[in-house]
Amino acid sequence: MTAELSPIDTAKYVAAKRAVDFVEHGMRVGLGTGSTAAYMVRALGDLVRDEGLRIRAVPTSTRTADLAREMGIEVITLDEAGWLDLTIDGADEVDGNLDLIKGGGGALLHEKIVAAASERMVVIADIGKEVATLGAFPLPVEVIPFGWKSTQAQIEEMLINMDVLARDTARRMTGDSPFVTDEGNYILDLSLARIGDAHRLSMALNQVPGVVENGLFLDTCDVVVLGHGDGRVETRDINAGTIQEDRLEVMETENLFTDLGN
Ligand code: A5P
Repeated sequence: MTAELSPIDTAKYVAAKRAVDFVEHGMRVGLGTGSTAAYMVRALGDLVRDEGLRIRAVPTSTRTADLAREMGIEVITLDEAGWLDLTIDGADEVDGNLDLIKGGGGALLHEKIVAAASERMVVIADIGKEVATLGAFPLPVEVIPFGWKSTQAQIEEMLINMDVLARDTARRMTGDSPFVTDEGNYILDLSLARIGDAHRLSMALNQVPGVVENGLFLDTCDVVVLGHGDGRVETRDINAGTIQEDRLEVMETENLFTDLGN
């Protein structure tokens, strides 16, 4: 097969490919959701099939679970795993402290639970996700459907006292219908432009009745792997304080070029 990845897909691919180096035989691994995470699941599938890697995986969404099974990866529940050695997941924004906005794919609740149950979280992203300050990407907030308009109104009232640049909120839609999460909830996307104090905002959001969880992942990520369109990869480890640079080739594999949607 002859195919070429676009620069953005090359960036996602090389980040994913580099991140699977963190996976060791016998590990219990959390699998994130999204297009970058899909590259990672496929890369793990190649290792399982070609190199006999044995892992047990906890996916963060039904679509990741389906893909993992298709790739021959053993899927278990978080309760069966109990604790995870490592989670690899994507992000919508990452700042210099490795704080994140996640949930663009709507899986933030399971992603946060899985990340919290993991010894280590490795985030994979293209370099375009790197920001100086979080907030340009609308912050996803998962809310229960009961009384969601009242929850939205209380969030908007709370935002008046927050250090943000904009305060628009909208329920996420899929065509004419509301987007519904794997837990049957809605997502409110908060367009804030710039978040001045992410910790304060995260705590305030989670105190609003009806809010299940928000997409700010703070002090959670240990390593971020950022891919570039030319195949360069930067691996930043916040605990070790190191930055490693590599260059990876895009290798065509049976799994690579099919069905890589979000
Ligand atoms: C899924 O809910 C999100 O948290 C994703 O991790 C995030 O949206 C990144 O997705 P992409 O890798 O598709 O950009």
